[in-house]
Amino acid sequence: MSETVSYSIEDDIGIVRIDNPPVNALSQSVRSGLMKALEASSSDDSKALIILCEGRTFIAGADITEFGKPPLEPVLGEVLQRLDEHNKLTVAALHGTALGGGLETALCCHYRCADTSARVGLPEVKLGLLPGAGGTQRTPRLAGLETALELITSGQPMAAAKALDAGLVDHLLAAGQDLLQGAKDYTRSLLDGNAPLRRASALPIAFSEQDKATLDAARKRLQQKTRGERAPQRIIDCLEAAATRPFEEGLKLERSLFLECMSDPQSSALRHLFFAEREAAKVNGLAKDTRPLPVEQVGIIGAGTMGGGIAMCFANAGIAVTLIDNSPEGLERGLGLIARNYSTSVSRGRLSEEKSAAAQALIQGSTDYTSLANVDLVIEAVFENLELKQTVFRQLDNICKPGAILATNTSYQDVNAIAAVTNRPQQVLGLHFFSPANVMKLLEIVRADHSSDEIIATAMAVAKRIGKVPVLAGVCYGFIGNRMLRHYQREAQLCLIEGATPAQIDSAMEGWGMAMGPLAVGDLAGLDIGYKARQALSDDEKGDPKSYRVPDLLVEQGRLGQKAGKGYYQYDPETRKRSDDPAVLEVVESAARELGVERRAISAEEIVSRLTCALINEGARILEEGIAQRPGDIDAVYAYGYGFPRHRGGPMHLADTLGVKQVYKTVCHYRDTLSADNWQPSALLEALANSDDSFSGWQAQRQA
Ligand code: 3HC
Ligand code: NAI
Repeated sequence: MSETVSYSIEDDIGIVRIDNPPVNALSQSVRSGLMKALEASSSDDSKALIILCEGRTFIAGADITEFGKPPLEPVLGEVLQRLDEHNKLTVAALHGTALGGGLETALCCHYRCADTSARVGLPEVKLGLLPGAGGTQRTPRLAGLETALELITSGQPMAAAKALDAGLVDHLLAAGQDLLQGAKDYTRSLLDGNAPLRRASALPIAFSEQDKATLDAARKRLQQKTRGERAPQRIIDCLEAAATRPFEEGLKLERSLFLECMSDPQSSALRHLFFAEREAAKVNGLAKDTRPLPVEQVGIIGAGTMGGGIAMCFANAGIAVTLIDNSPEGLERGLGLIARNYSTSVSRGRLSEEKSAAAQALIQGSTDYTSLANVDLVIEAVFENLELKQTVFRQLDNICKPGAILATNTSYQDVNAIAAVTNRPQQVLGLHFFSPANVMKLLEIVRADHSSDEIIATAMAVAKRIGKVPVLAGVCYGFIGNRMLRHYQREAQLCLIEGATPAQIDSAMEGWGMAMGPLAVGDLAGLDIGYKARQALSDDEKGDPKSYRVPDLLVEQGRLGQKAGKGYYQYDPETRKRSDDPAVLEVVESAARELGVERRAISAEEIVSRLTCALINEGARILEEGIAQRPGDIDAVYAYGYGFPRHRGGPMHLADTLGVKQVYKTVCHYRDTLSADNWQPSALLEALANSDDSFSGWQAQRQA
């Protein structure tokens, strides 16, 4: 039928096989092949038609690489309408992940069977889209409005057994049964029973006052939760239409809102992140035959905040962990915290008792470094002090087997200086997890001067096994994320002392989409951490006192943040809700007087512009120096590690959206009006502005 679709008749049943690796996306070749197969089936003497896929999955959706380009005929809507109208019994046989347009294809068949491991979902919302091929209209007709609402607005896939209960799947194959044979048997039973051609488009749908209230509540809840994303609201419009208008009208509305989403910059940003995340796992220049080393046993040094969370990441992935702390109390505290975290997950229904017990059984505590003699990988997470880390690495170098990889979770220390104290610098790298390590998806993989290709490839593979988004970084102070964050935080501090209140700064950034404003983040982490770090620096290293005087004063007054019940805000002891504290404003005003700053009104626009331009300018410098491999890697770091609004695509995508020329002009304006020290434009930003280029254009040229 086409390069990717074949059609044959086996025992009077037509079989359409789709073979479009890696995920059987609905490319033009698949769409046209499907159309031809339908034509063939309608005119031959087969009795029914089964659609199934080769490889690891049923169709995982529309081909995202075609988005944003002129449409290629036949469009999916046409193909699926033809499928919906087919005059013979149609059955979709699902395995792997039937997602997006893939599930929509299945919903146009008269019946669906699935193997037990299959999952179905409509993840379009994660790309800033809505199901655009009937998903919002057929799902509620088959599964009810509430299930459709949850499935489509969350974008989370549903297991086959649950889909069977929900009515999205009609038959589950026996465990281990061959997909084709199972689908044939099921189809035969339908034919034998004279099953009707059951079209989802023709099913009735009810709409009660209760349903209306459910949709209204969802509108409000999602407005809050998705921080300004437009696709979830449009999804609810479609669902309401599904329940209140004829099918054809609902489909028409879905189509027009899908096109609106597609041309919305939010969707371009989310699609950019989809590919950026996957691209980030690729290491430029790595020899093709580089093989990751086996990692079956892991050692972690330091059972504190990070060590405990990192141990959970590995144990959750079934990898045995030895957790070491040099103090028995530290070890006990760490293991206790891990046990509490697991029990919370179980009590909240996020993890089963069995899985929690199995994971905890994989974590062994010890105060003896020699128990690490046989591990494949060690991750050090002791206090942030270079000499201490070097002492630990000397010990590890003596104890661990020759092939073992030694990694540091340092936030700021020089990984080369740590590697240099060992006899195996080629086996040393940074693995920078983010707090809480068992939750945050980002993992910066820090390549030191002598880190071998093999250990970088191993780190990338391990990251995938433990469910992280890995991004490669070079050695510098703060690597990618924290290095940029210093500039963002500096501007937040300067806005504060120059005239804004903590609430104005945090609301401006949260209103713009950040998960949490910069000062609220400070309170959450504890203001004493930065304070202590500053104590170790010279005045020169600390920089402009305007950028740290306020938090210093707050810490000296015991305002350490949430843990003390007060920091930039005061916190309700019960609810932890933050509220303004006039005492903080007094501190800010006195710091301003002391440093000769005349306070003025600062708008939310200025706050957002200064904080985001500070990120972009430093991001450009990081690219210039080759610390990050690509602009998209920086975007992945910010989306997965720092609560940057995904629908804005990350700082470098934001620069492209605003226009690099405009960003450069803004940076120059701040240089001329705010501070020549803080706002020197990066050479790359300047060059791109001068040549009217973008970060993505620059990246495309380098790749070509
Ligand atoms: N279109 C084009 N390429 C796709 C794709 C798609 N829908 N889905 C995955 N790919 C590509 C990836 O970019 C990757 O390419 P690479 O190897 O060159 O980096 C390759 O397929 C493998 O993908 P993963 O690394 O993600 O493989 P996993 O096995 O980890 O995950 C998956 C498989 C669960 C299917 C995951 O890829 C996924 O979630 N894909 C997106 C699914 C999706 O969003 N579907 C909806 C699309 S929009 C739509 O259908 C609109 C419709 O309503 C009209
Ligand atoms: P922490 O203070 O919570 O834990 C450190 C642990 O190391 C303590 O339990 C301590 O007893 C133990 N320890 C100290 N010296 C040791 C030694 N010689 N041998 C064995 N154990 C020893 O510290 P935290 O926050 O977990 O940080 C650890 C590292 O992770 C630091 O380098 C930090 O910069 C980095 N990091 C921290 C993040 C955070 O948000 N807390 C985020 C990312 C990285």
